[in-house]
Parts: sequence; structure tokens; C-alpha cells
Amino acid sequence: MKFGYFDDKKREYIIKTPKTPLPWINYLGSEDFFTLVSNTAGGYSFYKDARLRRITRYRYNASPLDQDGFHIYLKAAGEVWNIAWQPVQTDVNSYCCRHGLGYTVFESEKKGILATQEMLVPRGEACLLCRITVANVGEEKKKVDVFPYTEFCLWDAMDDASNFQRNFSTGEVEVTADTIYHKTEYRERRDHYAFLWANRTPDAFDTARDAFIGIYGSPAKPAAVFGSGCTGSIAHGWAPVGAMQFSLDLLPGQTESIILMLGYIENPEDEKWESSGVINKERAVAMQQRYDSDKKFFAAREELADFWSSLLSNFTLSCEDEHVSRMVNIWNQYQCMVTFNMSRSASYFESGMGRGMGFRDSCQDLLGFVHMIPERARERILDIAATQFPDGSAYHQYQPLTKKGNMAVGSGFNDDPLWLIAGTDAYIRETGDYSILDEQVAFDCDASLAQPLMEHLRRSFNYTVEHLGPHQLPLIGRADWNDCLNLNCFSEHPGESFQVTGPSEGPVAESVFIAGMFVKYGRAYAELCSHLGLIEEAEASLAHVEKMEKTVLDAGWDGEWFRRAYDAFGQPVGSKECEEGKIFIEPQGMCVMAGIGKESGEAEKAMQSVKEHLDTRYGIVLLQPAYTNYYLNLGEISSYPPGYKENAGIFCHNNPWIVCAEAVLGHGNRAFEVYRRTCPSYLEDISEIHRTEPYVYPQMIAGKDAPTHGEAKNSWLTGTAAWTLLSITQAILGVVPTLDGLKIDPCLPSDWKGFAVSRRYRGAVYNITVDNAAGAEYGVKELFVNGQPLAGNVIPPAPAGETVEVKVIMG
Ligand code: BGC
Repeated sequence: MKFGYFDDKKREYIIKTPKTPLPWINYLGSEDFFTLVSNTAGGYSFYKDARLRRITRYRYNASPLDQDGFHIYLKAAGEVWNIAWQPVQTDVNSYCCRHGLGYTVFESEKKGILATQEMLVPRGEACLLCRITVANVGEEKKKVDVFPYTEFCLWDAMDDASNFQRNFSTGEVEVTADTIYHKTEYRERRDHYAFLWANRTPDAFDTARDAFIGIYGSPAKPAAVFGSGCTGSIAHGWAPVGAMQFSLDLLPGQTESIILMLGYIENPEDEKWESSGVINKERAVAMQQRYDSDKKFFAAREELADFWSSLLSNFTLSCEDEHVSRMVNIWNQYQCMVTFNMSRSASYFESGMGRGMGFRDSCQDLLGFVHMIPERARERILDIAATQFPDGSAYHQYQPLTKKGNMAVGSGFNDDPLWLIAGTDAYIRETGDYSILDEQVAFDCDASLAQPLMEHLRRSFNYTVEHLGPHQLPLIGRADWNDCLNLNCFSEHPGESFQVTGPSEGPVAESVFIAGMFVKYGRAYAELCSHLGLIEEAEASLAHVEKMEKTVLDAGWDGEWFRRAYDAFGQPVGSKECEEGKIFIEPQGMCVMAGIGKESGEAEKAMQSVKEHLDTRYGIVLLQPAYTNYYLNLGEISSYPPGYKENAGIFCHNNPWIVCAEAVLGHGNRAFEVYRRTCPSYLEDISEIHRTEPYVYPQMIAGKDAPTHGEAKNSWLTGTAAWTLLSITQAILGVVPTLDGLKIDPCLPSDWKGFAVSRRYRGAVYNITVDNAAGAEYGVKELFVNGQPLAGNVIPPAPAGETVEVKVIMG
């Protein structure tokens, strides 16, 4: 069952009912100011950091669901409703929500009043704009009251949700004719405030929640809206809000518009005050003036649309499959921007308080983002590298505002260092910019320890070499990619962290997955070395890589598939010898992607085993058989009920690893089949089962052991976005940036007759047409560049500004 439809021309998903199986959200903003907005206008805004600079309040896991947001109440002829249905939930005659790239528009009609609410974050600004139109589409004159409402958060979202003994006394506001300023803590250590402004003077306002909502009221029945209007309240402590009232008289056919702005301002220390106790509003007023007319709003809207058109034009695909086209051309790339911006911090499943930027997560997000804005990818790589420790290990997470590592989680996730090589390598392959390797980058955020980025990569590489276990496989530490496989922790008591309790690092537990990564990214490192003329280092690195490859084929091979790990007692994990958890997806994907066992047959066998043991109609599960007990020596993975999350859920993140692995083996049909199973657009028809947004990937879909098989969770912020984009664009379509140029190496379903891609690469545009009349799954027979045959399939980079015509014949 569908709840909406795609409009690919407009690049929108249009939701036709507010009652979607879960709130279906969008992200506004792609620089510093962000707003999450659901299809009923729920959500919240923050500046840079969802924990430390939360601007509006949001209650997670609330019942009723998703009541906090940026709401517009309408009142006419004795009835009250919201343009976006929530929180009042009055039935309207028509409703639609259009989620587009960086904007969301609601439209609904009731009582002969057609109203729209259009929200976006303009480029380069720290504010949310919301333009409302209210039209009288009836035959008679109408009186309509319009009430925008949002609740301010007292900045630090964690503190805001817990430290009430203080917070109920700190709230402060200031009000001018057209603006409500939220200035809690500005009198002491803060130099920032927020505000709600309108481009026309409201007839009334409220700034105290108790007054607008009522002490025992709710956003579903605000006292001011249902009673006699806003009261002019000034918040002293408790809960400051921004609420306004506009009383409109509309003739038949008349439309009125109001532009609202939720803004964020930082003032320099010596410009904080206008006069004693009165905040300096200069910057706020200037910002307001930039958007005080419809014309200016439309210009901002157009600028945003141009920004996205230009970004997406870096990679465009034409092919027969509409699902693949819309995911590649629009939504998958869009999600990659969002994961790049958010890492795993703020979604409807990530509260924005728990995690900041993940070291491993952000490095992987780069893989899907680097072709869009390479300069931002560059900056991010340097930020991430600065949180690395001098021994090559890394803080697992850091806060985006402070860029400081998160002490509570610390380090010891032994795959982390290698992801830095993966991200940097992707950046250099995209840009050819080796100068990034010369950048001086701090260790542990301490500038006095700075070394060139290349030295960071070297220490990443060496970290694995220097941390090998009894089988000469890499030690796993607290965990590897699978945060829930905790082989050293032995967490016994409820409430203890599975990762960081007790002796989380041990000298015995090893990871075959990290070994696979080491082979893949160790090789990339060696290639970088040889491009830099570090021949000896390249050779020495390759020797380590080759040795590891042998080790994997020996201690890491189980007979039919790659083992997952060895536990703290040296017992295999992910082996036929185990009672549960005999086979895991991760080492199959990573080892085969690294080419391990490609020549000697293990890779083929591993892929067959995945198909045989892990396939389901909704995707490939992480392991089988699911763990039915909690195992102290395995940790969090066995804490989940069977079929959920890492315990045999369909973890979407590593399904594309199988796509890539199958492509390494030239299996185009199977690669595409795996791609298709988790592709959200293909799942739109079963939205009532899948439940999350049909335009983005979720982290997890319940596996076959779960009673809710097929139900997705944790949409938006997942490494799935980057890896799936990589799997379709590089493994299947085969447009692969390399250090030496653009490689064309498709691995297609044999019934695809061909496709065309336009790819901007190092400043030149490549128009690539692939002809698969032969019905091949793999193999470039001929390749022409500007009409000339090319030996091999790597096109040397063309000068920036040029357009290159590429014709590829498969067979
Ligand atoms: C984390 C990833 C991790 C994955 C598997 C996600 O929640 O963000 O870093 O690789 O779970 O455990």
C-alpha cells in the first residue's frame, strides 16, 4: 500500500495522508542551520550541533507521536485545525505534504480556506523560513485567525531534558512589535539567541507556554487558540515559546501571505547588548530584512533549487528502470548529503543527544558525498583526522560544535583507523588532490602534535599491523564495524555499556572483518604510497597486505564461508562449529570486495553461502541462525531479540557490500537482485509493512526470525546511503574514480540493454553511453573516447572544462 507518490520531475515525494505508518521526515538546511520536519510539521531546529545548540524542543518517543514542531493553527467559523494536521488532528477536506530537496510544503483545505505552509532554510543563513498563504476559496467573506507556534529549547538538549531544577528558572525572552526573542542564558555565558519573526505585525502574541497552551492543556488543544486568543504573556522561567496571532479578514478569492522566520544569531562579545539587559538585535533585523517580502522568499527558493540542480548534475543516470533512476539521480544522493551533515546525530531515531559525529560513520559517509562537494569532504577529513590519537587509534565519536572527541565512548574500535584511509583515498581518487596529504593535522586535537595527514594514514595502517592476535588476525578491541559484537567486554549487569565496561580490549579476540578491510584499504594505502614515490613503503605495505590475505584464507576460512572472528577464548565466531551465529554477512562482503579468494574459489563459495543461508525476500540478514540467548562472550549482538538489529536483522548497510562483492566476481544479475531488495523506491508498494519513508534507506529491516519481518527502522542516518550509492554507481554502473582517471567497468543485469551516465569528474564532464545489446553481465569489449578507441578501461583525466564523449560496448 502506498501513502503517496514520487514526482521525479519536481524531485519531490508527495504524501497524500497525514496518517503515514511513521512520521515521514525531511531535512531542511545543508550547512549550519538544520530543521527536521515531518509530514505533519513535527520536528525541531538546531545550529551545527543537535545536542549543544538545540533551538526548538522536541520530545522523542512521545505519545501521541510527533506533537512538537513548527505548527500553524487556523481558526475560522468556530473550528480549529492545523495546516499540516498535527497536533489538533482535525479532519481536513484535502491534505498533502511535498517533501523536496531542502524544502517541505504543506497544503490543506477546510471550511473554504485553502492554506499552504512552505518551509526551507535559505542558503548561507542560520534561519528557517516558513511562508504561509491563506486563501478564501469560498463564496463569502471569512474571518480567519492564524497562530504559528513553536517551543524553544534551552540550548543544550540533554540538559534541557533533564535539569529541571535549574531550567524552570532560567528562561528569558524579549518582545518587539514583530519578533519574539529567546535569550535564555544570554545574560551570562552565551553570545547567541534565537527568535521568531513575522513580516507583518501580529495582532497578539504569547511567549509563555502555560499561557498559550494552558497549564493542563496540550498542543492538540491550546488554550489561546480554542479560547479567546493570545494573551501577550512574557515568559519568566518555565517554558518560553514563540506564539503569534494574526487575524485576517478575507474576501472571496483573496489570499494573504505571511513570512515567518525562526532565526539564530551569534554576537561578538563586545557587541552583545543594545543597552543594559537589552540584546543587540542588529544582526537579527538585518537577517529579517533579507526575507521580508514574497519576492525575496521566492528568490531564496530559487537559489536553493539551483544549488540542488547543480549538485545533482555531477552524476546523472538515464536508464530504463525508474526506481534506479530516481534513487540515483535524486534521493540516494540527497540522503548522502544528509548523512554527511548529520553523521548519526539527529533523526527521528537518533535523538541528537546521544552521538555526535562517528569516526567510522563519517569516513564512510564521505564515500557517497565526495563527488558532490569535494571541498567540504576535504575539510571533514581533516576534522576527523584531528581526533585521531598519536598511536593511530581514534575517538569513536566527536561533537560537531567543539570538534572534540567524546570521552564517554573513547577509542578502541579497531576498524576505525582504517576507515580514515578509505575516506581519504576516495577523496584523492575523486579530486586528484594529493596536497591534502601534506596538510598538518593535530593528533588528539592537540595542535602541538600536528603531523601531515599522510602520517595519520601511516599510523592508521600500522595500528592494524601492530595489533595482531594469536592467529595473526587483527585484534578487534571493543568492536569493529559491528558495534554490537563485543568480544572483550563481558557485560553482566543491566545498564552497563556493552562496549566500554570492564576490560574492553583483549589480546586474543580477533576480527576477520578488519582483516578484510586491511587487505582492501591497505592496498589502497600502498597505491597511494607508490603514487607519492614512496616505493619502499609501498612494497613493505603490500607485503603486509599479502600476508594478511593468506592469513584470512587460512585462519579466517571456515570451509564454505569466511569466519567472522575469534572470541576472547580463541573460539571461532561465525563458523559451522558454532551452535548459533554460524555465518555472518560482514566478512563475506568485505573479504570478497578486497578480492580475497577470488582466484582460488573461496570468494565464489562465500557468495553462494550468503545466498543459501542469509537471503530473504526483503534483503540479506546479518547472520544465521539468530542468537536466542545472551552470550557474555559475544555481547550486545546477542542482547537483541532474534531478527532485530545486529542479531539477524537485515542491516541495510552491508547489503551493498554484497552487491559490490558480487560485482567483483562479475555477477551482474545477482548484484542487481541484491540492490533491488532493499531499494526503498521498490518497496513503496509495501509501505504498510516497511513503514519508513519510501524515499530513503533505513538502517535496519526486521529479519526473518522477527515477528515483524520486513518492517524497517532507523531511517535516514545510516552508512547504507553512501554504500548503496557506491554499489549502484561504481559496482553496477561501473563508473569508478581511480587515482589514474575514470574507470568504466559495468556489471549489469543481463536484461539491461544499456544506460547513459553524465559524470562531472575533476572539472570535466564525461558523457558515458553503455551499450549492452550483447546481454552481458560483465566485460567491456570496446571503449571509445571522443570516437577514438582506448586500450583498457581507465580514461585519463581530461582538462577541466572539457566534455568527453565515452562509448562503451559490453560483451
Ligand atoms: C553505527 C555504525 C555501526 C553499525 C553496526 C550503527 O548504528 O552507527 O557505526 O557500524 O551500527 O553496528
